[in-house]
Amino acid sequence: MTTIALSDWLLARISREDGAPLHRQLHEALLAAVLEGELPAGRKLPSSRLLARELGVARNTVIDVYETLAAQGCLETRHGSGTYVADLSAERLAPPSPSAPEAAPPAPKLSARGEAVVKGARVFPRQWGAFMPGVPDVTEFPTRIWARLHNRHWNRAAPERLSYAPAGGLPALRVALAEHLRTARGVRCEPGQIVITTGIHQSIDLTARLLTDPGDTVWLEDPCYWGLRHSVQSLGLKLRPVLVDAEGLNWSGTRGPAPRFIVATPSHQYPLGMVMTLPRRQALLEQARTHGSWIVEDDYDSEFRYGTRPITSLQGLDRDGLVIYVGSLSKTLFPGLRLGYIVAPPGLASAFAEGVAELYREGQLQQQAMLADFIAEGHFAAHIRRMRGLYSRRRQALLEAIRAEFGETLPVMGDNAGLHLILGLPGLEDKAIAQASVEAGIATRPLSGYYHSPGAAQSGLLLGYACVKEEAIAPAFATLAEVLRKFGA
Ligand SMILES: Cc1ncc(COP(=O)(O)O)c(C=O)c1O
Repeated sequence: MTTIALSDWLLARISREDGAPLHRQLHEALLAAVLEGELPAGRKLPSSRLLARELGVARNTVIDVYETLAAQGCLETRHGSGTYVADLSAERLAPPSPSAPEAAPPAPKLSARGEAVVKGARVFPRQWGAFMPGVPDVTEFPTRIWARLHNRHWNRAAPERLSYAPAGGLPALRVALAEHLRTARGVRCEPGQIVITTGIHQSIDLTARLLTDPGDTVWLEDPCYWGLRHSVQSLGLKLRPVLVDAEGLNWSGTRGPAPRFIVATPSHQYPLGMVMTLPRRQALLEQARTHGSWIVEDDYDSEFRYGTRPITSLQGLDRDGLVIYVGSLSKTLFPGLRLGYIVAPPGLASAFAEGVAELYREGQLQQQAMLADFIAEGHFAAHIRRMRGLYSRRRQALLEAIRAEFGETLPVMGDNAGLHLILGLPGLEDKAIAQASVEAGIATRPLSGYYHSPGAAQSGLLLGYACVKEEAIAPAFATLAEVLRKFGA
């Protein structure tokens, strides 16, 4: 290409009406000329003065673009000689091995672990509305109080608050959470045992990374929350599903190597809703002690219990430092906050604090400071109290809607706590029904999808009532009832 041809080529790609700065347009046009082969490697470019005149732009614009392209490795400046197109050929950058066959580039391939994660993905595109399980009513969150705390902390944001978090998280939040957990959940802890995370997902991931090696065995409840099953599975651990009965986790028939850790939801089994009885809790602690296992107590939503007081934690019974207690603000405040905590046994506390800082490089100290004040000033306890009343009424409305549509023909389980209940569908295909109800605009999850052992799976639907306004419950359930009847309910 002559200089004239080059300037015509560039002028065709530059527009003064475009609104984009000229130097950016010229940069993009010249880069395209190099990448598309209009300017081959080794070709000398016109001087900046000449090109600027041809294009009718300032010389500095051309100099600027030449320099940027040289910094990107597209052009070379040879002293006293001029500016040349660099050799960008793949052969120069990475000579192919002589035996490499000429084949089409392989399709992008995930690892077996990646395939399993993506294949098992179950997150709904819309995490809200009837009857989305596991989601609190985020519209009731006291945003005015939060905004006040926001202003308080952002009006005087110390530089260290905008940097990475210290190991374990913000000390003030660790103090506030320790106090809250001692009184509300019967957890025996000091602030130094609290490790702030982005939620239970991360807490379990951290626990697994710090306490297991690939191939180690971990026990999970069957059924259990699929998100945690996928997290643990993706780390190359051997999962041993342990069935739950009316008293909670029942490992009596479980064989094989001792687990490195056992994950359980003793205060509110997820998703079935039973409470692990005291004898079973003591037996579980004894099992962990004799086999050298840890117990991970997932206490995701136990603040919401209707009729009786919340059940105190398993950690509170532990005298040997075997329980790793994990909790979350996802259900009590809002899931998008992405804050949770671990109460590590004293012997693990500093390793967990270092681990979280090392593996995830945590931050969010301003949010942590706001949350510390929110708890210390009593807003957290007040919000939980208020939501407990609200959810209790919504739960009642859902029970009444079920009775109005189906009388006593469909069993209801796990309805005395939490944010969802289970509508049993004995003999019916819950996966197909859940799919059809999503298509009818009602989000539910099939109970059988939470089981690891297909032979043990019960059929039912998880119906989350917490994020549905009371008056919307009966109409939404009427829509679901229509779907259920089509399937023979
Ligand atoms: C039993 C259980 N544990 C943990 C979580 C997730 O908690 P987080 O949002 O803190 O990661 C959920 C979410 O639904 C859950 O059901």
